[in-house]
Amino acid sequence: MSGDWFFGIRGLRKQVLGTEFSGVVEAVGQDVTRYAPGDAVIGYPGAGFGAHAEYIAMPADGKLVRKPFTLGFDEAAAVPFGATTAYDFLVNKAAITSGERVLINGASGAVGTASVQIAKFLGAEVTAVASAKNAGLVRKLGAEHVIDYNERDFAAEGQLYDVVVDTVGTAPFVRTRHALRPGGRMVMISGKTSDMILGPLKARLAGRRMINGVASESRENLETVVKLINDGFYRPVIDRTDGFDEMRLAHAHVDAGHKTGSVVVRVADAPALKLVG
Ligand SMILES: NC(=O)c1ccc[n+]([C@@H]2O[C@H](COP(=O)([O-])OP(=O)(O)OC[C@H]3O[C@@H](n4cnc5c(N)ncnc54)[C@H](OP(=O)(O)O)[C@@H]3O)[C@@H](O)[C@H]2O)c1
Repeated sequence: MSGDWFFGIRGLRKQVLGTEFSGVVEAVGQDVTRYAPGDAVIGYPGAGFGAHAEYIAMPADGKLVRKPFTLGFDEAAAVPFGATTAYDFLVNKAAITSGERVLINGASGAVGTASVQIAKFLGAEVTAVASAKNAGLVRKLGAEHVIDYNERDFAAEGQLYDVVVDTVGTAPFVRTRHALRPGGRMVMISGKTSDMILGPLKARLAGRRMINGVASESRENLETVVKLINDGFYRPVIDRTDGFDEMRLAHAHVDAGHKTGSVVVRVADAPALKLVG
């Protein structure tokens, strides 16, 4: 999808960007009982945008939940993007079960670090594909095996996995099929549009299954992820926190494709924080 088409051809369709946030409730409508001023929350307006601001209005029954009590505001701002994406693909769509052999390509990103932890929570045996600088991190998150993508090609080693998850778009089905057992599932979270469209058919013809598309941004997923955090099964990874004045630098760092976990942008003095990616 072209960025211009999505964000606006004659100018920005949305004046305030930002798809997820953490912060404190400033005021509530007179019929709202679920929250009160002072409550710490996280949420994602998603395609509605508007999180890169000091204030945002959200429906009380919208995609908004109480902040996990074990996290500060920086870490909490990073929850909605990586974890809800990983949860929706690994649990709801791929239905990974205990004992399955799962390979995660791009294990050090926001979605990747969440995928490693959620796959471990599900009882999978996890192989992480990451560069040498992130090998220690992904092992700490629970990966039993690590493949350095600069040194080895996971698809050329003769190992077969039940599930291969691609979060960076470097493992289209033509490559991944060599690492998938018959009947195995490929989870394409990132990839070229042509691979997204043709992949499911190619996979079916080869006796495998491809799962792709867009992660559901439901409030229920966010609530479940917060429970995983409060129970100690998941913790977001933060690459760095930038000030609002450094938004351009923050985006440039994200766009370079080598961040570790999430980059958080502090819009106002703590605790009003927003996330860029
Ligand atoms: N389908 C959906 O609904 C959905 C939802 C959310 C996100 N997404 C997509 O998911 C993707 C991941 O987002 P993200 O924020 O998690 O990405 P990210 O944080 O930018 O992930 C990049 C990570 O992958 C590593 N990496 C780079 N090249 C690699 C390679 N060739 N092999 C293995 N690892 C490599 C990088 O580490 P090094 O520095 O070590 O290279 C970096 O840590 C994005 O494309 C995003 O658009 C899709």
